[in-house]
Amino acid sequence: MNTYLKLVQSRQSDRAYLDTPVEREKIERILETVRLAPSACNAQPWKFIVVTDPEKRMQVAEATSNKVLSMNHFSRQAPVQVVVLEESANFTSNLGGWISKKHYPHIDLGIAAAHISLAAADEGLGSCIIGWCDEKKVQKTLDIPKNKRVMLIILLGYSSQPLREKKRKPMQEIVSWEKY
Ligand SMILES: Cc1cc2nc3c(=O)[nH]c(=O)nc-3n(C[C@H](O)[C@H](O)[C@H](O)COP(=O)(O)O)c2cc1C
Repeated sequence: MNTYLKLVQSRQSDRAYLDTPVEREKIERILETVRLAPSACNAQPWKFIVVTDPEKRMQVAEATSNKVLSMNHFSRQAPVQVVVLEESANFTSNLGGWISKKHYPHIDLGIAAAHISLAAADEGLGSCIIGWCDEKKVQKTLDIPKNKRVMLIILLGYSSQPLREKKRKPMQEIVSWEKY
């Protein structure tokens, strides 16, 4: 009981990793959880590129860091990156999105990222979802067509950070029952 809650409590954004390589079977199980993730009208508007090659990894990591803002320098340490691309949705998702003025693929990709990071925690791995990157650099490094958006890069690896206390808004601020 409460195993899912415990899993969620054990996930955090890890910003330091050990050199230890990640077993391929673990990566494959994580990918299977994202393959099974839900999406609006089952459009599955995504593609995931797993990057483990050291040279490519360094180039992708450099594309996530920003010297001026001093951001994401730890990306270089992670032995695995999962690059999350947005693909075209299907007719019904696009139609539903047009009518309701919502871009469902962005929601779908957020759910996919949650699946990946929680599955990583379940495998005893650390992860960090990276939203900022030089998209053109990543596209060039991984031969991604220019019209495909790089929405997220998820770092995976064995964390060298202890579990931190979560900083979150209190329940009563984010949840109400029966009315706003
Ligand atoms: C869409 C998205 C983009 C994010 N981008 C970054 C990022 O570029 N760099 C970073 O260090 N963390 C990034 N994070 C991680 C958040 O900062 C983190 O989830 C939040 O502070 C809560 O901390 P926790 O994940 O450790 O619980 C991102 C998270 C999400 C969901």
